[in-house]
Amino acid sequence: MSRTLFLAANWKMHSAPEGTFDPESPYKIQDSVDVVVFSTFLDLAACLQVGIEAGPQYGHAEASGPHTGDVSLKMCADLGCTYALCGHSDRRQKHGETDDMVAAQVKAALALRLHPVVCIGEKEEERDAGKQQEVVRRQMSVLPLEQNITIAYEPIWAISRGDPNKPAASTQDAQEMHAFIRSLLPDATRETMRLLYGGSMKPENAKELLSQPDIDGGLIGGASLKPDAFREIITIAQSL
Ligand code: PGA
Repeated sequence: MSRTLFLAANWKMHSAPEGTFDPESPYKIQDSVDVVVFSTFLDLAACLQVGIEAGPQYGHAEASGPHTGDVSLKMCADLGCTYALCGHSDRRQKHGETDDMVAAQVKAALALRLHPVVCIGEKEEERDAGKQQEVVRRQMSVLPLEQNITIAYEPIWAISRGDPNKPAASTQDAQEMHAFIRSLLPDATRETMRLLYGGSMKPENAKELLSQPDIDGGLIGGASLKPDAFREIITIAQSL
């Protein structure tokens, strides 16, 4: 079963990188690989205007209400977004999002015809205790595992690893977890749902990671803020 590779840029709390709105922007729709950008709310409209497939990094599940500082998924859908990032570990860890809150966002997104990219993954101490499968099984147990969602496995300990002594997840670790996650999918979506890897994906390791049988793309933070690095990853994906 061949699944089109999917590269999602997670710009986190950074403004659109220089060159984003240029005609040759790597963030625009590309041949033979799906590219989506998760920008801050402030950059969404400008991205959509130049034909970038952009979505929010979070959106409230309710359409509107007394939630000071929040923006709803519905507002993003009304703006023209077609994707939404849900359950990123920054949101789970720094904003207290629980599995149930993430599931509510995923269900709201689906109802709005937004395609959720849902992050799951274990913390370093959970990996050290051998609990990584238990954690992702729990995180997935509340999700509607339908075709219109994408799961991004992001082992938290492998995110933003600038320190060369602490490398990203090994390709083998990543593939093993992706195969496990796929085994948890229902029959209807096991072969068709795309599973992204996230955690220090960059041009240097993209080919190896993206060549794995159960890795169908990447959720890319740091390297997606450098247009040349992101373009290189796209070129690698297109060559596979
Ligand atoms: P990273 O971030 O590529 O910088 O590790 C990935 C993410 O947090 O989505």
